[in-house]
Formats: sequence, structure tokens, C-alpha cells
Amino acid sequence: METKAAPPKQRSWAEPWKVKVVEPLKTTTREHRRKAMAEAGYNTFLLRSEDVYIDLLTDSGTGAMSDRQWAGMMLGDEAYAGSRNYYRLQENVRNYYGYQYMVPTHQGRGAEHLLSKIMIKPGDSVPGNMYFTTTRLHQELAGGHFVDCITPAAHDPADQSPFKGDFDLAALERLIRDVGPDRVPYVCVGATVNMAGGQPISMTNMRAVHEIAQRHGIRIFLDATRAVENAWFIQQREPGYADRSVASLLKEFCSYSDGCTMSGKKDALVNIGGWLAMNDAELYQRAANLVVVFEGLHTYGGMAGRDMEAMAQGIEESVADDHIRARIGQVQYLGQKLIDWGIPIVRPIGGHAVYLDAKAFYPHLAQDEFPAQRLAAELYLDAGVRSMERGIVSAGRDEATGKHRYPKLELVRLTIPRRVYTQAHMDVAAESVAAVYQQRHDARGLVMTFEPKYLRFFQARFEPKG
Ligand code: F0G
Repeated sequence: METKAAPPKQRSWAEPWKVKVVEPLKTTTREHRRKAMAEAGYNTFLLRSEDVYIDLLTDSGTGAMSDRQWAGMMLGDEAYAGSRNYYRLQENVRNYYGYQYMVPTHQGRGAEHLLSKIMIKPGDSVPGNMYFTTTRLHQELAGGHFVDCITPAAHDPADQSPFKGDFDLAALERLIRDVGPDRVPYVCVGATVNMAGGQPISMTNMRAVHEIAQRHGIRIFLDATRAVENAWFIQQREPGYADRSVASLLKEFCSYSDGCTMSGKKDALVNIGGWLAMNDAELYQRAANLVVVFEGLHTYGGMAGRDMEAMAQGIEESVADDHIRARIGQVQYLGQKLIDWGIPIVRPIGGHAVYLDAKAFYPHLAQDEFPAQRLAAELYLDAGVRSMERGIVSAGRDEATGKHRYPKLELVRLTIPRRVYTQAHMDVAAESVAAVYQQRHDARGLVMTFEPKYLRFFQARFEPKG
């Protein structure tokens, strides 16, 4: 007799959108990929996108815009000064993030550049919850020195603490005491923390950082690039917040800071754009003056009117609870599959990406044989899935000694673009990771054959060892 399985009791979420336009993908042979990888110097940043099947390099500028955003592109007011779209963007930054003033920039690092130049004096220390590549470089170029004050749990891929983006408050206090508050221009808060695996910081910790900073008269600037995703984790994980909307949590979170830098290419669902925001009128005057030197007039910065319109609309869409649940839900789906198969990833699963623990994949490789760089190459070779190294290559060289920095985390990031891929793509990517994991014992290291001066991970070239 045929037996039928009982229907499942669970109720699934589904994406709160349907597909209107599709972009064909190309599959390639292993031989084609082998040649492409060699030509790219074993650096996934140097591959042609055409040679990639499923592109999990980054969630930056790779999202799909909505029909309303595309319609908004037609409302672009391309006036040099005082564009209508600028005012809508300003209003939405005020309404959703709560900051009074805003200067548009071409993307996040444009805002980081301006902020670093305005705030940092040579010799200053800038504490933060783990570095981000472009953020730290701009701080250093302005003469500052980044000091990592993240909780030690963030450096352990297996630690399952719910808020691994939290500050180590004692470390923050210690730094302020050691260098003196007037040598700390601001505290740089990342939410979520990209290099730690997309880990969130709790509302409680943010409030405590605010209290410390206030006590010493130090400002806080938030890297709000994925702050909406951070707000979702607060809603899901932090006691007392389950009934609050993501939008209200975002606004409260931002209220503990004095301003933010923003890459609109992530949370805000656009292909290009960003901003620098603040509450202080005098700081705004300085930013508005400096932006005309490096980006453009203060009412467009580095953006076209149509792009500001798309970003203003994107902000509204980004804070919708059903959007963010499906967005992070997809990341969790991919991560959970890998966990179920015993594949070593950073736990808990982050907001925008699943991070493979390359040290655990390839324990036989030394860190200066670039295990994560190798793993990213192997993944591409297997099925054309593109990922990104987030380990020793990304960490770069120490300013003072010129030696490699050896980060505790040696990771490969599978980053999920927003509203782009389906669950089936996640299945294919997961199965490819599993296949590469099966062959992990055979992997050899790499040697670096070309190393650019700044942000070397973007353009460095490698060859297989031996
Ligand atoms: N801050 C964070 C946390 C980021 O992840 C990024 C970019 C930036 C700032 C800089 O913004 O690219 O618009 O200039 N992250 C991308 C990534 C590149 O792939 O993680 P941008």
C-alpha cells in the first residue's frame, strides 16, 4: 500500500515580489573556467562577469531595483543645483534614519573620504568594531589610526553569540583613557559588521557605546551600510524588541549616533549611490563645502538626479519587514544547508552573506599561502560560482612594519545580492561548496605575483604553488 507523507506543519515565507524582467545566465565548461581563472591571476575580482554563472562576489550595487525605482529613474530632475530628487532623498534620510543633514556621494567610500578629512587629525585614534577595508584606508590616509574594539567573540567563527558585532566596552574605555578623548575624533560603529561575517550589534551595546562617547564628549559615526539588516537582527534576537518594526528599530539605533556614512548600494537597493549624514549644522557646512571639491555640488554629490530618486525610493522599500525577512531568510537558507552538511562556516549565519571558514577547509595551508584566496578560486572552477576572499589578502599590510596583517578570520564570502537569485540558485551554490569541501585535502596554496599599494585584494595576482 502506498503511504503518503503527512503535509508539513511549518509555514514558509516567500519573497514579497514576483519577477518582471529576467537576465539570462551563461554556464561554462570547466576548461573555460580554468583558462579564465588563470587569466584572472586567481583573483575573482579580475574575472569577467560574463564568465560567471552565479555571482556571489558582493551584495554591493548588485541588487534588483523594483518597478517603482525604475519608474523613479524617469523622474530624474537633472538640474545642476537643487534637484527635486535631492529633496526627496534628504527627506527620507531624515524620516527613516533620523539625521538632519545629508550630503550625497557617489558611494560609501566617497562619504568615508569626506568624513575622514573633516574629522581626523594626524595621530588620532579611531576606535571601531572591526575594520572595513575602505573605511580604515580613508582613516589612515587622513593620518588616523584604526583601533579594533570589537568583542573577542567576533574573531571565533564557531562562537554562537547572537551579537558578535558588539563593542568590547572595556577596550573602548581603555583606549579613550590611554590616548585621551581629544585624540579620538569619533567612534566608528559598523552595523552589521561585514568583516566579522555580517554580524549584528545589539541595541543595548549601541546605547552603552553612546553613553561612553557622551561622557567623554566624543562623537559617534555609524557605518549605516547594512543598518536595516542590523535592525532586523535586533527584532529577531534581542529581548524586548520582537514587537517593534524594523523601521522603528533603525531609527532608534541611529539616534545613538551623530551621523553616518552610507553605501546605498547595499540596504538602499540601488546600483550606485551613498551619502554622509549628520545632525551638527557646522559639520554639515564643512562637509557641504568639501563635497564640491571631490564629488560635486552639495545637492547631488556624486549622483545623477535619477539615481537619487531611485535611492530615496529604495530606502522606503528597504525597511519593510517582509522585504528584510525574505532577504535575510535567503542568506539563512543557504547557510543552514551548509551547516546541515557539516561544512565549516561562520556562526551564527550573517545578514548579507555566508562566510566559509577557509582555515577549517584547508588546515594544511599556512595563512601566507592564501587559503581563502585559493578556496574562492576552487569554488569558481567547480561550477562558476564567484565569491570573495576575506582574509589575509583583504587585511593588507601593517602601516608601520610593512608586513602582512594576519587576521584571525580567514574567510570566503558568499554574498547574496538583494532580490536577484532564487532558492534554486542557492541550492546549486551550496552543492558546489559541498563538492569543493569533498576535495579539500588536495588543495595547494598560492603565491602572490603582483601586489598593488592600496586595497590589494581588488587587483592582486596569484599563481598556484609548486
Ligand atoms: N562600509 C561597509 C561595511 C561596506 O561593506 C562597504 C562596501 C563600504 C563601507 C564602502 O562602500 O563600496 O559603496 O564605497 N562593501 C562592498 C562589499 C564593497 O563587497 O562588501 P562603497
